[in-house]
Amino acid sequence: MRIDIITALPSLLESPLNDSIVKRAQTKGHVEINVHDLRDYSTDKHRNIDDYAFGGGAGMVMNIEPIARCIDKLQSERTYDEVIYMTPDGKTLNQQLANTLSIRKNLIILCGHYKGVDERVREKYITLEISIGDYVLSGGELAAAVLADAVIRLVPGVLNDETSALTDSFQDDLLAPPVYTRPAEFDGMKVPDVLISGNGKAIETWRMEKAMERTRNRRPDLWEKFNENQG
Ligand code: ADE
Repeated sequence: MRIDIITALPSLLESPLNDSIVKRAQTKGHVEINVHDLRDYSTDKHRNIDDYAFGGGAGMVMNIEPIARCIDKLQSERTYDEVIYMTPDGKTLNQQLANTLSIRKNLIILCGHYKGVDERVREKYITLEISIGDYVLSGGELAAAVLADAVIRLVPGVLNDETSALTDSFQDDLLAPPVYTRPAEFDGMKVPDVLISGNGKAIETWRMEKAMERTRNRRPDLWEKFNENQG
């Protein structure tokens, strides 16, 4: 998979994309991430990429030209499955959407800033608008990092058995069960006996029960979905 991220603030993406599983995915060749500084596509001598909004009002709007130049260049080099725009008014990211995107070949992610991008960018280029939740961030970079992380860990081959995504929360509309590690007792708090029993079948049953209990108590909406899918 190849991901091209277009941003006015490339430094915001450095750390989240260069550590842990996302870094390993790149080193192992499962994913190639390219970050493009939008200012490199400005023809303005001050490398401006935004301007005042037509009609007035507070806040700057990102110009279409630098974005168009960058996307046109990328699209002349290869075909992209989606051109994604990170925005609070997009479709809310969930595990299902992450799964869908994890089997795509080439993705462009555009990060918005200020009051957003000129609407014509959305009309001409954007195929998918994604929000990471009902709150407003200062820019799309952190949202793009969240999306990239959620998608990349699902790319086939990125996770090994130990980190398998199959047991993640949400993967089957259930939250994950509680987990424990050494010591077996801390401050009088004991790890559930079943987990030290060595009885694989009993452990599996316990985990399923706890996952269901947790989902029922914490996320009645997911619980309903889980039950519908069992039917
Ligand atoms: N940009 C600003 N806020 C955002 C959000 N919640 N999701 C995606 N992109 C954003």
